[in-house]
Amino acid sequence: MLTGMIGLGNLGTAVGNLIAANGNEVIGWEHNSQVVEEINQKGTNSRYLPGVTLEKTLKATYSLREVMSGCPVIFIALPSIFLQSTLDKVREQVNTQAILVNMAKGLDRESGLTSFQILRCMFPNNSAIMLSGPSIANEFAQGMPTVVVLAGQNRNDLLTVSHLLDNQYFRTRFSDDEIGVELGGVLKNIYAIGLGMFDGQGITSVNFRAVYLTIALEEMARIGVGMGAKIETFLYLSGMGDLLATSMSTHSHNRRMGELLAKGLNLDQIKKEMGVVPEGFNTLRSMLYLAEKLHIALPLAKGLWDVIHERISPENFIRVFIRDFVD
Ligand SMILES: NC(=O)c1ccc[n+]([C@@H]2O[C@H](COP(=O)([O-])OP(=O)(O)OC[C@H]3O[C@@H](n4cnc5c(N)ncnc54)[C@H](O)[C@@H]3O)[C@@H](O)[C@H]2O)c1
Repeated sequence: MLTGMIGLGNLGTAVGNLIAANGNEVIGWEHNSQVVEEINQKGTNSRYLPGVTLEKTLKATYSLREVMSGCPVIFIALPSIFLQSTLDKVREQVNTQAILVNMAKGLDRESGLTSFQILRCMFPNNSAIMLSGPSIANEFAQGMPTVVVLAGQNRNDLLTVSHLLDNQYFRTRFSDDEIGVELGGVLKNIYAIGLGMFDGQGITSVNFRAVYLTIALEEMARIGVGMGAKIETFLYLSGMGDLLATSMSTHSHNRRMGELLAKGLNLDQIKKEMGVVPEGFNTLRSMLYLAEKLHIALPLAKGLWDVIHERISPENFIRVFIRDFVD
């Protein structure tokens, strides 16, 4: 089946290549013209997925319209900050029969809406599915076993999408809790910043990490339920699974941000060093705003915010964490 991909960055290229390897043709829109040329001419994407030879049936294009109007299933693999600005241009051109599969993870700074909620508002006539779970692109691009969750209301559409993705090393599970599945992936980015901070401080204690992850999951579930998610969704792959994957991965941008904070870099210096501010930072800001509106206490997230804004040092954050949660 001809499948569309919006964004051929790290995740978009890995998922596009997986779908192509499963016997489908894939056409992906990409913002970066050098990436488009390289994929079409050399069959590689050295910027976003180095070391992987891409399937010949994965092609790149500059034409958003070609992808949005011509494919029965379209995956969205953009960082959340680019989602609305990119898709706004082609709102009218989307094939309304197409199934949209969102993989972007973030909360909008102004509205507090999730990427999936924004997508639903932009394309109200399309069927939409949320894909999330522990799925580090560099891993499944090398054939490492991965299981993700597809959340949606239409079982036939869930089956159509799972047939594109499933193979001997990549599997999908279904859920009807779109907001819960999405929020697991969105909120874990925040707590990955804290994990990076511990790594940057040389804290290797597994006991300490276990406490931190447990409290993080509790905060994720608390705000998630406040936003309409089911609590049990946080105990499965897209909640606990994704939080654990991030806590163990060296690939996470959010964790890297925490490491740089622990090394004493401020927000401006981190932006310069990393080229972008990881999604977890914007999500943290939006989540604290929402938590205040919903009267939900998130002491761990608030502590991370205070470190980022230099109100407390990373050392003090860890001391306060131990005092409040471990002592
Ligand atoms: N990489 C992973 O392992 C992974 C896993 C699960 C979920 N995700 C989620 O997938 C989404 C994409 O992440 P990624 O790691 O692939 O990002 P990435 O940084 O690798 O890719 C960035 C993409 O954004 C595009 N882009 C850059 N500037 C743009 C602009 N001004 N307008 C439009 N597009 C622009 C780039 O061309 C590229 O396609 C994120 O929401 C992330 O949280 C990533």
